[in-house]
Amino acid sequence: MELNILTLCYLIGSVTFIIGLKMLSHPETARRGNLIAAGGMTIAILGTIFLYEEQGLRLGNYTWIFAALLIGTLLGTLAAKKVKMTAMPEMVSLFNGMGGACAALISVVEFEHLMHQTRVGQAAGGGTLLIIFAGLIIGTISFAGSMIAWGKLNGSIKDFSFKGQHIVNLIIFGAIIVLSGYLIISGDAAAANLFYLVLALSVVYGLFFVLPIGGADMPVVISLLNSFTGVAAAFGGFLYNNPVMLTGGILVGSAGTILTILMCKAMNRPLSNVLIGSFGGGVSGSAGNKDQGSYKEISISDSAVVMSYAKKVIIVPGYGLAVAQAQHVCHELEKLLTDKGVEVTYAIHPVAGRMPGHMNVLLAEADVDYGSLLEMEQANEEFPSTDVVLILGANDVVNPAAKTDASSPIYGMPVLDVELAKLVIINKRSMNPGYAGIENELFFQPKSSMLFGDAKSVLQQLVAEIKTL
Ligand code: TAP
Repeated sequence: MELNILTLCYLIGSVTFIIGLKMLSHPETARRGNLIAAGGMTIAILGTIFLYEEQGLRLGNYTWIFAALLIGTLLGTLAAKKVKMTAMPEMVSLFNGMGGACAALISVVEFEHLMHQTRVGQAAGGGTLLIIFAGLIIGTISFAGSMIAWGKLNGSIKDFSFKGQHIVNLIIFGAIIVLSGYLIISGDAAAANLFYLVLALSVVYGLFFVLPIGGADMPVVISLLNSFTGVAAAFGGFLYNNPVMLTGGILVGSAGTILTILMCKAMNRPLSNVLIGSFGGGVSGSAGNKDQGSYKEISISDSAVVMSYAKKVIIVPGYGLAVAQAQHVCHELEKLLTDKGVEVTYAIHPVAGRMPGHMNVLLAEADVDYGSLLEMEQANEEFPSTDVVLILGANDVVNPAAKTDASSPIYGMPVLDVELAKLVIINKRSMNPGYAGIENELFFQPKSSMLFGDAKSVLQQLVAEIKTL
């Protein structure tokens, strides 16, 4: 009877994960989807704690289990409540790394367990060892890589590479495969220490794998690491014959893989190019930082006038809009212009901001109508018939060098063709570059005008000015 209830708990867990994931694909349902999946996860966890039995024995150790759950819940809740929207991507990286570490720890515990059960002179089961090693290697690489990604996103770790790093990485990876292969095939308990050598090499590989990748390529790496954690967790599910862990792992693994493919498409680069192409120095920026000449500025009142009397305005949100937390006042500006009969839409670049869907989430928070968001391809068709483009804290995603300068680190990445509009107003605080660290020739083009200042304050002034017109 209890076994059936446990199976039901796992079934509920698996089904809610699938429903939750589906609901995450739309901003309006995402919050509820997350809660539904979390509810299913809680049922599966409580079911395991209270109903799981092996050889007639229950788990026990309740004090330890609930103390750990309490600490984890407290830390997770505090971190999620305190985190600023702009620091979300680094928190996602950190949590992803924790998932990888959990999967690797499962492998460590189960390896020790298996070795204790294996008597001297006997060989441990190859199938189980294969799963243990797969979870260990993928989970550890994901953990170490995610820690570097976390540091890079919060600016505490800089891109790093050395000559021949590509070869060193291949040698380390080869050593991991050879050592693991030997232990899996021989099942030799006397050589158990090699397991920890594989663990150490996987940490080094994870660090070396992400350290050189920089600039515009980080989104791809982050979603790839996400899929690694999912796959590592799925191996844990195999190991424990636990269907809900298996489903969760497979869902995260496949969602991460799909996202990686979409990101590569958005940047118009094959994955191998992102991973291998970065070796040898990350962003060079050589051609991106040549002298571009002078730029024009535009005042708040002139900007207010041209937008108020335009037929069609497209707003291009970027990372700076999230930094300024200016999404609400941006929506206010949009409503004001719409009331004046102006057609206002938003052009969303797939890698604008610092995480997939960053701009969608940001604008949804301010209740911007989902129907007024244009995907990149749609927006690019609209720009030629647009009177004013208002760029709010976006830079790399509107950099024409991606189309024109073969030596630019972002060359080949599809960008928003804002320069096709009649007038382009660019709001940012200075002439500093964006994430990829390169200058933007758009700012120096005849149709472009700079509107300097923090996005929130500039938008507040624009709103006030338009109200007087
Ligand atoms: P960026 O190229 O990073 O440019 C953002 C601009 O916002 C900066 O040039 C900055 O200029 C300006 N800014 C910052 N704070 C501001 C504020 N308070 N008010 C007004 N402007 C402000 O952003 P993007 O165009 O959105 O492109 C995203 C970049 O991040 C791409 O290179 C992408 O590959 C990378 N990336 C994306 C992701 C994902 S998944 N989306 C993940 C990691 C990395 P000032 O300092 O002069 O103000």
